[in-house]
Amino acid sequence: MAEGDDKKVTIDFGSGGRPATGSATGRGGGAQAAMELGKGLDVGTANLVSAVQDAQGNLILKSQRNAFIDIDADDFTRNMLTKLNVQYVVVNNRMVVIGDPAFELANIFNRPTRRPMKHGLISPDERDALPIEKMLIETLLGPPQTQGEILYFSVPADPVDAAERNIIYHRGLFEGMLRKLGYNAKPLNEGHAVVFSELADEDFTGIGISCGGGMFNVCVAYKTIPCLQFSTSRGGDWIDNNVSQVLGVSPSKACAIKEKGVDLRNPRNREEEAIEIYYRELIKYTLGQIKARFEKGQNMPAFPDPIDIVFAGGTAKIGGFVECVQTVYEEIDFPLRVKRFWRPDDALTSVAKGCLVAAMSDE
Ligand SMILES: Nc1ncnc2c1ncn2[C@@H]1O[C@H](COP(=O)(O)OP(=O)(O)OP(=O)(O)O)[C@@H](O)[C@H]1O
Ligand SMILES: [Mg+2]
Repeated sequence: MAEGDDKKVTIDFGSGGRPATGSATGRGGGAQAAMELGKGLDVGTANLVSAVQDAQGNLILKSQRNAFIDIDADDFTRNMLTKLNVQYVVVNNRMVVIGDPAFELANIFNRPTRRPMKHGLISPDERDALPIEKMLIETLLGPPQTQGEILYFSVPADPVDAAERNIIYHRGLFEGMLRKLGYNAKPLNEGHAVVFSELADEDFTGIGISCGGGMFNVCVAYKTIPCLQFSTSRGGDWIDNNVSQVLGVSPSKACAIKEKGVDLRNPRNREEEAIEIYYRELIKYTLGQIKARFEKGQNMPAFPDPIDIVFAGGTAKIGGFVECVQTVYEEIDFPLRVKRFWRPDDALTSVAKGCLVAAMSDE
């Protein structure tokens, strides 16, 4: 498994109710201790995560749900939000709450949150996506320490199963937004970021997979250089939607069951069995896509030694994930020899950390 390094890791979830630990960086990234130059940002469908390093080498990670909710701007709601100490902005006479608190308010009001992104990209269905995304990112990152500070942000690789996805547009939007905030913003494929953060001990050789909410992103790398990168449109949301259909419950209920401690090795009831079936299919699909590309591709690397395959991202957090991968691997005649499959201890922050590694080496 991944060895944690000996540097202190601080995770600050902002004012969303979860405790901040270690040095107080605050929700806005405002309290400015001396930081190394360079920042990493994971732009995810479900979560936004930022990573910086302070002068002592401590890693500072912040995370917010990539979500918002708008509520009628009346006195009752305004008082309630003030009492709950929830920050809001008023847009077109409606009160808008962003990030983790939006998620909590959605539970209180029993309403879904609105999501600026869908399937790994800025959502075409959400007209307020851009200004909200800008607010969320500004709050998370704070201003650059110097004009033109280098920031790497994650983008999906080209999809194998959804030709119409417009990644160029998505990448351009975020690049423009981050540049306006004063950063020298550079895109980094999400799977490549996993290679940077998790495969240093392997000389950055192997396969990094980010298992997200909207998609999976795969990067096959040889000594840091990506030789094959792609994304698929199946991720945690795909599991939730399928489980929701077969069980006749809402996708958010299916998601809640999934996140509540299922072990794929030992499903305890019909719901958990459905989750296990779709997880197995998802893993088979992902390994099958890598296999297909290796079998038909030219210029594929011939790895002299067995390689590591590392699975980061929230969807890999389910119990028994790695064991399920191992079982599927033994069933499909996989074209590469694998030394080990593993999942980092902190799977949700791998992409942001990989973006930081890229930014700091660039600075
Ligand atoms: N303990 C858990 N068990 C199973 N799934 C989980 C768990 N915790 C989070 N997830 C799932 O992880 C997904 C979010 O993961 P992550 O934050 O890596 O995605 P993202 O980077 O925002 O999305 P994407 O990379 O697709 O744009 C959601 O589908 C969520 O339901
Ligand atoms: Mg992601």
